[in-house]
Amino acid sequence: MDFALNQDSDYNSLRKLVDGLDVSILINNVGLSHNIPVPFVETPKQEMNDIIIINCMATLRVTQLLTPGMISRKRGLILTMASFGGFFPTPLLATYSGSKAFLQQWCSALGSELQPHGVHVQCIQSHLITTAMSKIRKPSALVPNPKQFVKATLSKLGRSGGAQNVAFTSTPYWSHGIMQWFLSRFLGERSPIVVKINRGMHEDIRRRALRKAEREAKKQ
Ligand SMILES: NC(=O)c1ccc[n+]([C@@H]2O[C@H](COP(=O)([O-])OP(=O)(O)OC[C@H]3O[C@@H](n4cnc5c(N)ncnc54)[C@H](OP(=O)(O)O)[C@@H]3O)[C@@H](O)[C@H]2O)c1
Repeated sequence: MDFALNQDSDYNSLRKLVDGLDVSILINNVGLSHNIPVPFVETPKQEMNDIIIINCMATLRVTQLLTPGMISRKRGLILTMASFGGFFPTPLLATYSGSKAFLQQWCSALGSELQPHGVHVQCIQSHLITTAMSKIRKPSALVPNPKQFVKATLSKLGRSGGAQNVAFTSTPYWSHGIMQWFLSRFLGERSPIVVKINRGMHEDIRRRALRKAEREAKKQ
């Protein structure tokens, strides 16, 4: 289904598909970011709409559809992909940043609601991974490939303390964990300095993306 359409008929079909099945693991992985970093005022309306509908609304609707079954069976696991883009306010990805901050807050609250019912909720925090979304191809110490990231995630399920003391949250990849600890501990995740550094980084990414688009346009 195309989550961007947010159609009741699609959710009804999904409900029929899972009705009677013992679905005990839900991985909320679906996500959309901005095509390239863009000032908020220049963000295309469609992109702004799709990010909120896909990242927030689709996650809420699928979770609400599957959770009652988990509650009745008294067991379940719900993993939701958040992002450092939401943990650290990210200029030029403002809408994506807000959508992921929403998911973080929602997960921490939901985790507490579902704990007494035997359903474990974990918000997965992450810096960059080599995927279509990040447009980074080469893995490095700070940017794992999906396989490395998934392995780290699955090996740390059930950790109860919470990354940086954030309830029902984990930052499973080792270098992301160190980065989050350092920034949160010494600078503060929403501090002016962190936001300023993040803005500089994303202005730079935007400049490079625009130059690349210009080069490609000239080739055609
Ligand atoms: N890559 C990173 O650096 C990074 C960092 C932090 C967090 N994350 C989060 O990780 C999650 C996975 O992203 P990714 O990096 O793997 O990016 P990706 O390669 O772009 O994958 C996004 C996933 O969402 C699905 N999707 C997007 N729009 C959809 C729609 N309208 N309807 C149905 N499915 C749709 C895609 O399905 P199709 O393949 O069918 O298009 C794909 O499975 C996202 O929630 C993202 O925000 C990524």
